Amino acid sequence: RRAEAERRYSADLERAVEERTRALSDEMRERKATEQRLGALQADLVQANKLAALGQITAGVAHEVNQPLATIRLLAENGLAMLPDARPAPPEVAGNLATIVRMADRIGHITAELRGFARKATGRTEPVKLGEAFEASLLLHASRLRSDMVRVIAPPIPPDLAVMGDRIRLEQILVNVLQNAQDALADRPDPQIVVTLRQTAETVTLSIADNGPGLSPEAAAKLFIPFTTTKPDGLGLGLVIAHDIARDFGGSLRADPPAPGQGATFHLDLRRAP
Ligand SMILES: Nc1ncnc2c1ncn2[C@@H]1O[C@H](COP(=O)(O)OP(=O)(O)OP(=O)(O)O)[C@@H](O)[C@H]1O
Ligand SMILES: [Mg+2]
Repeated sequence: RRAEAERRYSADLERAVEERTRALSDEMRERKATEQRLGALQADLVQANKLAALGQITAGVAHEVNQPLATIRLLAENGLAMLPDARPAPPEVAGNLATIVRMADRIGHITAELRGFARKATGRTEPVKLGEAFEASLLLHASRLRSDMVRVIAPPIPPDLAVMGDRIRLEQILVNVLQNAQDALADRPDPQIVVTLRQTAETVTLSIADNGPGLSPEAAAKLFIPFTTTKPDGLGLGLVIAHDIARDFGGSLRADPPAPGQGATFHLDLRRAP
């Protein structure tokens, strides 16, 4: 009898171990899948940010090239007009000047096209769940926030609260603002990010405040101008991109004016989805 009981006991134990092992490996599989999804999402965002940066750079270059180009064209035209008075007229000059004018026109067409391309917003907006986008953005920062011991205080966002936008690009805004907050909080004794949510019938405002050093007056004055950065490895494009996207959504991104002893606060205004 005792042998029988022992046998049953060990069979039970084995079964329990087996079940637990199965549960654990299920969990591990799920974790791995989540990690993969997260990795793909992050890659998408990085890519979207790079494309947006490329757009900004292209627009900037096209703009800068146009100025000297217009001068080149004008001078060539002037030369062409003055040529008949020059005695003796050197043989190939007229042809060369005409070619310069044509080439300048051609470059002008290319830069105009580049500018048009860079400015093209996808334009389409659709209802996006704000809570999901926010959670996903936060998740992308989770490991660094944890390792930097940053406390994130965020309100529950109603799961059905939707705003007009586009999921990836909305996350792009949030990721850029969170990234800046995180950068500002490096080496702070009690790093903290406080998120607040305000709603009206037509709008939703998500505010992200950090307790870092705050914006310098110079940075605040040029916040949304490309290539202004105070970071050694910054591009100075994050907020420009975020600002453009918010505007495409029919919303806005703004910062509180700097105040001594206060961190930075950014407000993202979005249209509420009907
Ligand atoms: N939360 C913040 N606290 C303090 N300064 C900030 C904060 N957010 C932005 N800034 C200032 O605004 C500048 C511009 O920010 P932006 O995100 O556009 O560019 P960046 O972070 O310098 O570079 P990147 O292109 O990598 O984002 C920063 O260099 C910084 O000086
Ligand atoms: Mg940035």
